[in-house]
Amino acid sequence: MNVSDSLEHSYQLQLFENGSGWSAKVFDVDTLAGQIHCLNQGDALFLGDLHVLRAATRPIQGLARLRGWLGLPTRGRIENYRNRGLGSALLNLVINRARAHGFRRVIGRLAPIDLKEDPKLPDWYRRRGFQIAVASNRLTGDLELVLSGPD
Ligand SMILES: CC(C)(COP(=O)(O)OP(=O)(O)OC[C@H]1O[C@@H](n2cnc3c(N)ncnc32)[C@H](O)[C@@H]1OP(=O)(O)O)[C@@H](O)C(=O)NCCC(=O)NCCS
Repeated sequence: MNVSDSLEHSYQLQLFENGSGWSAKVFDVDTLAGQIHCLNQGDALFLGDLHVLRAATRPIQGLARLRGWLGLPTRGRIENYRNRGLGSALLNLVINRARAHGFRRVIGRLAPIDLKEDPKLPDWYRRRGFQIAVASNRLTGDLELVLSGPD
């Protein structure tokens, strides 16, 4: 199974399902670029974690590999996978799977660490149709998308 970002770059998806939900890891060939964890919660699918890596380490290749063989210090190239549409593609995957499995809502929690890193995160979800209730201390928030039923 594959997903594509807004630049039509294709990523390989590895899906893991169990009775309580599912997870997915997204690879750019040999590099982990993102992941999702979802839990079944009654009529809702809980989006426990959606993460696109901004500093993924690509495996050492080419001349850098030769440097490694020679015992010289070397490290893989750092790749930022954000702002390419990959997060949106993964969120669409979550929504489509929730619909396909008969859930009526997608819900989730904005964690303090995520809101601190990106105070505009609620807007990212709002632009994608979610209702966001940010706590009065602005440290956490709840997100919800009500899915329309079949026509
Ligand atoms: C939130 C998160 C998943 C978004 O991932 P992402 O891959 O950067 O998301 P996208 O690329 O789809 O969207 C980011 C912006 O890039 C823009 N973008 C997408 N493709 C683009 C392109 N080719 N060129 C320029 N900009 C582009 C999008 O339009 C979007 O801006 P918008 O919201 O104004 O429309 C990511 O920032 C993340 O992992 N954050 C840390 C963990 C976290 O907070 N997770 C949420 C927990 S609930």
